[in-house]
Amino acid sequence: MCENPRIFFCRAEFTLMTKILVIHGPNLNLLGTREPEIYGADTLDDINQQLAQMAQQNAVELAHFQSNVEGELVSRVQQAANNGVNFIIINPAAYTHTSIALRDVFLATRIPFIEVHLSNVHAREDFRSYSYLSDLALGVIGGFGKNSYLLAFEAAVIHCKHTGAKRTA
Ligand code: DQA
Repeated sequence: MCENPRIFFCRAEFTLMTKILVIHGPNLNLLGTREPEIYGADTLDDINQQLAQMAQQNAVELAHFQSNVEGELVSRVQQAANNGVNFIIINPAAYTHTSIALRDVFLATRIPFIEVHLSNVHAREDFRSYSYLSDLALGVIGGFGKNSYLLAFEAAVIHCKHTGAKRTA
């Protein structure tokens, strides 16, 4: 059996693939109509589809998850750890600024992650400048709208290649 529990065995291709999970926090299901002057006109489906295309081009296995419920986000990270996910890209949305539970699950699971924001949180209300996750993240990307996710995906793939958490056959 594989020594690295974070490497996923893909039966269909008999190859080992990098597994990346994208997590979207509360109210991001409303993208497209939610304050488009701040968050842009793209819907969450648009973003997920573009990420799926990039995943295909990079031979990466990609899953995505959205919830408005803090505990569901925590449980999804726990599940990711059990399922050998190599890397998480997360937009914790408002829970960025409030959630000790999300902080604790990343401390507990140690899955490397990038924190993503569509908007530049430092150019907005003061309370958005504080994040419970940023110091645990490999990096933080914000202010580029949908491209924040795409840049995060590229960074995640580079990181996984460098650390060997990648397709090896
Ligand atoms: C956000 C910024 C957060 O402050 C806000 O609560 C969100 C979205 C962003 O993507 O810019 O819901 O994470």
